[in-house]
Amino acid sequence: MRCLLIGGALLGSVWVQPALADPAVVIRFSHVVASDTPKGKAADFFARKAAELTRGKVRVDVYPNSTLYKDKEELEALQLGAVQMLAPSLAKFGPLGIREFEVFDLPFIFSGYADLHKVTKGPVGKQLLVKLEAKGIQGLAFWDNGFKSFSANTPIRKPEDLRGKRLRIQSSRVLEEQVRALGARPHVMAFSEVYEALRAGVVDGTENPISNLYTQRMHEVQKHLTLTEHGYLGYAVIVNKKFWDGLPAALRGQLEEAMVQATDYANRIALQENEASLEKVRASGLTKIHVPTAPELSAFRQALLPVHEKMGDRIGWGTIKAVYRATGFLPDRR
Ligand code: LMR
Repeated sequence: MRCLLIGGALLGSVWVQPALADPAVVIRFSHVVASDTPKGKAADFFARKAAELTRGKVRVDVYPNSTLYKDKEELEALQLGAVQMLAPSLAKFGPLGIREFEVFDLPFIFSGYADLHKVTKGPVGKQLLVKLEAKGIQGLAFWDNGFKSFSANTPIRKPEDLRGKRLRIQSSRVLEEQVRALGARPHVMAFSEVYEALRAGVVDGTENPISNLYTQRMHEVQKHLTLTEHGYLGYAVIVNKKFWDGLPAALRGQLEEAMVQATDYANRIALQENEASLEKVRASGLTKIHVPTAPELSAFRQALLPVHEKMGDRIGWGTIKAVYRATGFLPDRR
């Protein structure tokens, strides 16, 4: 039986299989959403592509739906090398000490995917991924999900309708400030706990792209959804840097190609997945969907845009202005 010995840097993070066939590198890819979401589908696509392009030398085991780790734990597990790949929401990098990522959470900063891609596919996105290296993390790509809308058990027509409500958010200080700007109470909670918290009334409402809302069945416990699309939720695909750097160059190149294709796929399906989920929520008849009028949206913008100013020092004005420049953002324009 052949056995491949790989240098010390790799041991512990790469499983070397003493098999008759080619030895396999196993990448454990953990994420917190369902398999039938933009991220879930893209992770599975990457796994298939990685196997194909490396001719079976790399196997990617995808663990969806927090089956392996919840939000905070998965980042720790990546740094320790217990998993090799993740795709956390950009809103979850602040607690790691990389506050610049919270620029993506600023309300109404992107007017759509095209606007956002000027950042994620441009130099600003690249510079943000480089910041991860100091934490032992290699950033590989940005994957889209979509734009978040507010849900609750009472109608949401104006910002005041959320006053006093407990809203579940991701672990981002910008999102905390956003909720406070509405006069509501922020409640940071792991994604895997949201459905139950909504059901039990621990929180009153939340914000999510519709694919997340639907696949976690939040629509069963939220009577009202208003399509505010006030903020973006997307992902950075990341790997343990030591693991990545220790891979044979040829394999790493093939995996990079698989990632390029998976990124293209993720960003192609995100919008249609969210639209399909919205149709399913509508068809369920359980949640009333409200499309805000222009004056209603404008009231949300007015209430939330001051968050940019308030969070400027935390995120760093250099980063915020770089995003403004890339997208041509002008608070008064929209
Ligand atoms: C959330 O916690 O709401 C999202 O970050 C989940 C996800 O990964 O899309």
